[in-house]
Amino acid sequence: MSQLIDGKRISQQIKDELKEEMKKLDALGKSVCLAVIQVGDDPASTVYVRNKKKACAYVGIRSRAYELPEETTEEELIRLVKELNADAGVNGILVQLPLPSHIDEDRIIRTISPDKDVDGFHPVSVGRLWIGEKGFLSCTPAGIIQLLKRSGIGIAGKECVIVGRSNIVGKPMAALLLRENGTVTVTHSRTVDLKEVTKRADILIVAMGRKKFITSEYVKEGAVVIDVGMHREDDGHLCGDVDFADVEPHTAAITPVPGGVGPMTIAMLMDNCVETVRTQEE
Ligand code: GUN
Repeated sequence: MSQLIDGKRISQQIKDELKEEMKKLDALGKSVCLAVIQVGDDPASTVYVRNKKKACAYVGIRSRAYELPEETTEEELIRLVKELNADAGVNGILVQLPLPSHIDEDRIIRTISPDKDVDGFHPVSVGRLWIGEKGFLSCTPAGIIQLLKRSGIGIAGKECVIVGRSNIVGKPMAALLLRENGTVTVTHSRTVDLKEVTKRADILIVAMGRKKFITSEYVKEGAVVIDVGMHREDDGHLCGDVDFADVEPHTAAITPVPGGVGPMTIAMLMDNCVETVRTQEE
């Protein structure tokens, strides 16, 4: 029997722990405020932003929403981010991606103060992650580490294969698994024999953005499979990069879509927000 890794339950557990922690911090007179910026009205972004605000309210984090029109210029957005950097009442700044095409995302990410970079996307956060310094962790990969740990799955010494090398998932995932003493391989679109590599994995993390691409032929018997993909089937149901029905019988543990990795991202964002005050001087 394969173990179903329940991201919904684990993310709820993390949010409940953070809520307790916020009560204690509140008693010490410490509060946390997250500024969330959305430019334009991409429907998927609107849902994500709403869920982030809801999670803040649940945990006891204040949130400030900046909903800017599609025509907002890069300079206007830079000005707002700089204002929020300088605002002592704001602990974390999140600019919802993607931004409209006339705005340079990298420039915006670099403008966010590394001390308020709760997405963990700033080059300083990325550098800290790779050299093992304390800093904000990219939320989705950090959530995957929590899923593994809280499901009793050891990482040290395991063959970990990541499919996909994005800056948001694949690359930071490699750094985090390495930090946990996994033996890490990152595959990508130019990998010559993908199956040969993925079949080595004790822990297979799939973030390639291709609907139900990974079938049982790609998976070693008894592997742990983590699916970061999110797609919609023709019948409207959600599915991942992994063909769940085909792969699940061959795994020791697997994440479903929805209800696997997805809910963990927001839980870890909340953790990064609380982190901004954990170490603050009294
Ligand atoms: N768009 C999709 N995922 C994310 C995320 O984790 N952070 C931000 N800022 N934008 C996103």
